[in-house]
Amino acid sequence: MSTTPEFGSLRSDDDNWDIVSSVGYTALLVAGWRALHAMSPQPLVRDDYAKVFIAASQDPYLAATLANPGTSEDEMAFPRLYGVQTRFFDDFFVDAGAAGIRQAVIVAAGLDSRAYRLEWPQETTVFEVDLPKVLEFKARVLNEQGAAPKARRVEVAADLRTDWSRALEAAGFDVERPSAWSVEGVLPYLTDDAQNTLFTRISGLSAPGSRIAIGALGSRLDHDQLEALETAHPGVNMSGDVDFSALTYEPQTDPAERLAAHGWVVEPVRNTLDLQAGYGMTPPEVDVKIDSFMRSQYIMATR
Ligand SMILES: C[S@@+](CC[C@H](N)C(=O)[O-])C[C@H]1O[C@@H](n2cnc3c(N)ncnc32)[C@H](O)[C@@H]1O
Repeated sequence: MSTTPEFGSLRSDDDNWDIVSSVGYTALLVAGWRALHAMSPQPLVRDDYAKVFIAASQDPYLAATLANPGTSEDEMAFPRLYGVQTRFFDDFFVDAGAAGIRQAVIVAAGLDSRAYRLEWPQETTVFEVDLPKVLEFKARVLNEQGAAPKARRVEVAADLRTDWSRALEAAGFDVERPSAWSVEGVLPYLTDDAQNTLFTRISGLSAPGSRIAIGALGSRLDHDQLEALETAHPGVNMSGDVDFSALTYEPQTDPAERLAAHGWVVEPVRNTLDLQAGYGMTPPEVDVKIDSFMRSQYIMATR
């Protein structure tokens, strides 16, 4: 019997979470993948804070996974693919800085540690937007580590489904100056309407010369196809108990088209395999399979 995924069945319009519940846990999960990627022999990027977040969370599944990391291509598939994604956004911000942009906004920052990892040009401000409890956990763990950001880092604790743009401006964001925006791994967690409102707000805040990068390992997260993958590649362990289809909404509008409709000049859209080729990697079969059903999309655009 087919188990048709019930998109969004675990969600409501005003739901809330911390780092170990609902959508918040997905931020911890991808931090786990970044931690595993950093432990691989030739990581594309190194996020040394990721493992610290996992330890602090005391999540049993991720702690056990990090204590006994797999080494096979299948076991490392999701960490490897998230490493590729992390590199895409790292390069995006480095290039934006080199082009003179000094305001970065990390939308749905989760446990993104770019403010602490990247060599930002002087005078750069990095704004991080996410729900209060997610940012609180992150700040607590990084403070305990004595970690120092490499740019001026400003938290904007807000729900993207509300009018967060005022909070961003109140936090010092200057709409007259160009900005660089990352929208990483969050669109599937927003309804089509909420995505449209997000793009409208970002576009209204983006002065000429602004840039945006949007991307996610999966633009379609389908429970049945994940199960089929795990049957064909038993070493692939994606997510512990997370039911992505129930936490995400059914995709409707293509984000690249939506960006273009909001007046952005959009570069050709790439998938993970295109990015891997650009980094000189030959994707193993499991990566090709994952990309074929998850339909990753990596988009860059300029205002
Ligand atoms: C898969 S995680 C990605 C986190 C981060 N961008 C990364 O790639 O490491 C999804 C993130 O989106 C955030 N998020 C989802 N919906 C949100 C909303 N309505 N308002 C604020 N943050 C939201 C979650 O709190 C979580 O941190």
